[in-house]
Amino acid sequence: VGSVVVDMSMSLDGFVARLNDDVEQLHDWMFTGDTQMGARSASVLPGRESFKLSGTNAEVLDDYFGTTGAFVMGRRWFDIGERPWGDNPPFHVPVFVVTHRARARLTKGETTFTFVTDGIESALRQAKSAAAHKNVLVGGANVAQQLIKAGLLDEVQIHLVPILFGGGRRLFEDLGVQIDLQTVRVIEAPGVTHLRFRVARRGS
Ligand SMILES: NC(=O)c1ccc[n+]([C@@H]2O[C@H](COP(=O)([O-])OP(=O)(O)OC[C@H]3O[C@@H](n4cnc5c(N)ncnc54)[C@H](OP(=O)(O)O)[C@@H]3O)[C@@H](O)[C@H]2O)c1
Repeated sequence: VGSVVVDMSMSLDGFVARLNDDVEQLHDWMFTGDTQMGARSASVLPGRESFKLSGTNAEVLDDYFGTTGAFVMGRRWFDIGERPWGDNPPFHVPVFVVTHRARARLTKGETTFTFVTDGIESALRQAKSAAAHKNVLVGGANVAQQLIKAGLLDEVQIHLVPILFGGGRRLFEDLGVQIDLQTVRVIEAPGVTHLRFRVARRGS
C-alpha cells in the first residue's frame, strides 16, 4: 500500500506561491542542470519545456514520478496549470481534481484529469484505488491543508528553496491541530534542500 504524500516546493518563510500565484523561482531547481527526465515534458513556458536537473535533483524528481500512482489536486492548481502544461502535462498518471464545478473527464497525452465534486475524501479514495500500491501525491495548498487537518496524510515532502517571499500562500496556515513529524530524509542539493517527514502523531 502506498502513502498519501503532500509534496510541494516552499520558500524559507513558508510560502508555496506568491500572492499572484507565481511559483517560478520555487521550481528553478527543476530547470537548472544538465540531466533531462526522459521524454517527460514539463510545460509550454519558454525555457521550461522539459525538466533539466543537476544529479541529485534529478534523482529526487525521478523518485517523485517513479513512486507516484495518482495525484489529488485542488481546482485552483489545475486552473492555473492547464494552459502552461499544454497538450502533454507532466503527470502521466490519473489526476483527481477536487472542485465544486463539474467538468467532463479530460485526457491530455498520458494524463487523465477526473473532476471530483463529492469531496476530498472521495477524491482520495479514487486516487488510492488508481494508484494501486504506489503513492498518492497531493498538491494545492488548500486541498493539502484539508487532508492534513482530516488526519489523512502519511508523509510531507518539502523542497525548501532559499528565498524569502515575504508574503503569499502558506501551506501550513493555522492548522488548528498539532502534528508531530519524524524526519525520514534530508537531501542537500543545488538550490534546494529536499525534506521528507512521516506523520508520527496527530494531536487534537
Ligand atoms: N510550490 C509548489 O510546489 C506548488 C505546487 C502546486 C501548486 N502550487 C500553487 O498552489 C496554489 C494553489 O493552491 P490553492 O490553495 O490556491 O488552491 P487549491 O488547493 O489548488 O484549490 C482550491 C480549490 O479547490 C476546490 N476545492 C477545494 N476543496 C474542495 C472540496 N472539499 N470540495 C470541492 N471543491 C474543493 C475549490 O475550487 P472551486 O470551488 O472553484 O471548484 C477551491 O477553491 C497555486 O498558486 C499553485 O501555483 C504550488
